[in-house]
Amino acid sequence: MENKLSKILIFGGTGYIGKFLVKASVLLGHKTYVYARPITSLTPPSKIHIHRDFQSMGVNVVHGELDEHDKIVALLGQVDVVISALAYPQVLDQLKIIDAIKVAGNIKRFFPSDFGIEEDRVTPLPPFEAVLEKKRTIRRATEAAGIPFTFVSANCFGSYFINYLLRPREQRHNVDVYGSGEAKAVLNYEEDIAIYTIKAADDPRTLNRVVIYRPEKNIISQFELISLWEKKTGQSLNKVHISEKHIVELSKTLPHPRNIPVAILHSLFVKGDLMSYELEKDDLEVSKLYPDFEYTTLDRLLDIFLVNPPEPAFAAFE
Ligand SMILES: NC(=O)c1ccc[n+]([C@@H]2O[C@H](COP(=O)([O-])OP(=O)(O)OC[C@H]3O[C@@H](n4cnc5c(N)ncnc54)[C@H](OP(=O)(O)O)[C@@H]3O)[C@@H](O)[C@H]2O)c1
Repeated sequence: MENKLSKILIFGGTGYIGKFLVKASVLLGHKTYVYARPITSLTPPSKIHIHRDFQSMGVNVVHGELDEHDKIVALLGQVDVVISALAYPQVLDQLKIIDAIKVAGNIKRFFPSDFGIEEDRVTPLPPFEAVLEKKRTIRRATEAAGIPFTFVSANCFGSYFINYLLRPREQRHNVDVYGSGEAKAVLNYEEDIAIYTIKAADDPRTLNRVVIYRPEKNIISQFELISLWEKKTGQSLNKVHISEKHIVELSKTLPHPRNIPVAILHSLFVKGDLMSYELEKDDLEVSKLYPDFEYTTLDRLLDIFLVNPPEPAFAAFE
């Protein structure tokens, strides 16, 4: 029988969230393509491993650079949906993808590399604001080109930030608390973020819409997260408070790009930007859109951490 599911092309598929997206796309039965940089003598073994994994999963890996316009246009002709999970420094390179999508003319949905805070509804400290401004540029260029889109506001990558905040692999006695510790954030398991995104790709309800990933059981403050972890491990942690004043100061004094992570921490965990706006009747929230999908609650995610903590991936935050 013919596969009616969209064929999905992922840019940045070899990256942190990209790998989850590729797996979810394959799992949900989509013919899946990844456009990735060619392997060279400088490619680390871990990346070569990812390429091999993809091939063994039946993913079509096409090698190329982002400025190979004709190659990208030709590849776009074979697919229906484009998801970009390119890293932050490549955000503006997505204009090249947009140009290629315009020429190809057949793409039914484009997901730019958002996957974080709802950038059209917040104004964080300048270093993070500059990042969001670039992401907004891509949103506006997508809209102006008349490309059908879905904009994903995935909130925090759950394992990524649990690893950062709690350091479960390091067996530390101290835990840093940013600001009051009471601001609410949203931490979603990466596997779920990926599944929700792939589900949204073929969903007419998400066409030309922003989709917000805010499942109720994943809304939590730093204090609540620490306390839940203490209960699960049976060990209490010494809370080291880092004041808002100090964080703001660091965001002004650290050189670029080291000033970005502190500005992000300020936005997510001090100001509580993820929960700073109410969801209106018209807003699309994933756990409401896909109620049959049993998402991984934070409680369950911490259980996963107890047994086998996912690898930390926050080098950019150090
Ligand atoms: N919500 C959250 O908590 C959170 C956390 C982190 C990131 N994010 C967002 O998620 C998105 C993806 O971030 P990520 O951390 O998953 O990215 P990442 O792991 O750093 O890398 C993503 C991809 O970018 C590719 N790339 C890097 N340099 C490139 C270049 N010069 N040319 C072409 N491709 C290049 C990488 O290819 P190679 O594999 O070949 O290097 C990789 O496939 C971003 O929008 C980021 O802002 C959100």
